[in-house]
Amino acid sequence: MSRYLVTSALPYANGPIHFGHVAGAYLPADVYVRCMRMRGHDVLYVCGGDEHGAAITIGAEKEGIGYAEYVARWRAEIKHTFDCFGIEFDIWSGTSICPQHTELSQEFFRRLDQNGFLIKQTTEQLYCENDSMFLPDRYVLGTCPNCEHRPARGDECPNCGSWLEPLKLKEPSCKTCGGSPIVRETTHWYLDLPKLRDEHIGEWFASKTWKTNVQAFVTQMLEELRSRPITRDLKWGVPVPPEIADGQEDKVLYVWFDAPIGYVSMTAELTAKRGEPDAWKGWWQSPDTRLVHFVGKDNIPFHALVFPAMLYGVRQDYVLPWAVPANEFYNLQGSKFSTSESRTIPVDAFFGKYDPEAARFHLIASMPENSDSEFRWEEFQTTVNASLAGTIGNLVTRVLRFIDKHFEGRIPALSEALVPELDRAILEECGEISDPGASIEAYRFRRASEELVANAAVANVFVDRLAPWALRKTDPDRAAAVLTTLCDYLALVARWMVPFMPGKAQAIWEMLGQKGSVAESGWPELPTANSWRSLSPGQELGEVEGLFTRIDDESVAQEIAALEEGATES
Ligand code: 2FM
Ligand code: ZN
Repeated sequence: MSRYLVTSALPYANGPIHFGHVAGAYLPADVYVRCMRMRGHDVLYVCGGDEHGAAITIGAEKEGIGYAEYVARWRAEIKHTFDCFGIEFDIWSGTSICPQHTELSQEFFRRLDQNGFLIKQTTEQLYCENDSMFLPDRYVLGTCPNCEHRPARGDECPNCGSWLEPLKLKEPSCKTCGGSPIVRETTHWYLDLPKLRDEHIGEWFASKTWKTNVQAFVTQMLEELRSRPITRDLKWGVPVPPEIADGQEDKVLYVWFDAPIGYVSMTAELTAKRGEPDAWKGWWQSPDTRLVHFVGKDNIPFHALVFPAMLYGVRQDYVLPWAVPANEFYNLQGSKFSTSESRTIPVDAFFGKYDPEAARFHLIASMPENSDSEFRWEEFQTTVNASLAGTIGNLVTRVLRFIDKHFEGRIPALSEALVPELDRAILEECGEISDPGASIEAYRFRRASEELVANAAVANVFVDRLAPWALRKTDPDRAAAVLTTLCDYLALVARWMVPFMPGKAQAIWEMLGQKGSVAESGWPELPTANSWRSLSPGQELGEVEGLFTRIDDESVAQEIAALEEGATES
């Protein structure tokens, strides 16, 4: 048994999250966590709002409300989306409300400073005389020096994607008042990434074999690494530790500096709530912990390089990431999700019509694991109708309803003499059975979803071959043994299903007459003859109900039309 500390990127509390985010960084983590728990590991899953930074202050100012009120609203809204998808964290908090966050973030800053990894530098920065403030990156708009796109933001060009700095922009203007800023001197702290790379992080990263997208991106970054400023002139955020500030008390930590520390502070919040205020160290400062960061591709540099450098640089024996399963982008029906352009799937409307667990399964089956992928309504329909209703749902109901009708709703008797033959038939002759848990553990979620369906399909082949419906009349003992074999196999399918569709898995479990939680039944070994059956003949079945509702062509056509209409209206 190992200890897994799992995080999903803390979502910015300045807007809704859409299916693309869910498929990229949250659902795979939830599936992983559920699976690893069933496999007997000790797992903690941490997430919460990323609530500082200029994106937040700009959003709140635009609405004319306070920063705390603004982030609280988005924190709740985002959590609602996670609840709809059945994504369950051990803690859901926020960087602006977590009681341990300010102190821990300042402690990181202090220790990095003491250990010689911070550089204090006075540089020139844009200052708006109308608003009497230095302009953080995102408060500056201008023309991109690389591609001439306008408006580019002070931190990044939305057109060519290059990382920018406000002073590099041509014809800069203040986002708040539209005026032309002037250049003034200001002092900031920089994280000495080249020093951290040379001392340890470069070597550490080289020892890792991560997904190719992560490997390629970070290797390139390591070569071009420069010190990065980690403080900002903002009125909202974690203040620079007062004893270090030395005249710079109005500076706050850069949001990308404090956000990942949120993983640590939220763990501390959780253990404090559990009455063990120091127990977070057992997770974060123990060499046995496997730290796994689920993120989208835009978050790779911070999780595979900058945050590990911070964790190392404080010299407090923090564990460095064990894996950064980063996904690519997930689009919607041929182009990007875009809330502003109404190219999205409204969460409440969707879950008013469709099954959340079917949605979970489809997002996993189509997730952007190795390249960009997309949600297509027709594909969602195929997943639900063919894989879920057609393969899994149909198997469950046809077997259990038949037993209900002809075997008094109890798992039939199993004639021992038939066991070897039936074991061989279902385990060897009807198709390959694989362990979806092994694929999940290797972050191969799509493959795991295919394995689940393929494993269920094995039972359908078995039914067709052994035809228990016909046997009942000619050889009832054999029919009974075939059906019992199927029930035992369904118990396996239910357990394999838990990470993807925990509620449906529980429903099958109860239909099989099992008590307690299927998630607590443990992860099944791959079945081998004589060692895989778990049910007792004679056991009364539960109420047998349909598991999935098929989606008709008309609904799909309506959804696509609504999407196109929304896009033209906006
Ligand atoms: O991309 C984002 O949504 C960021 N808010 C992710 C932050 S992850 C972590 F560092 F907190
Ligand atoms: Zn201004």
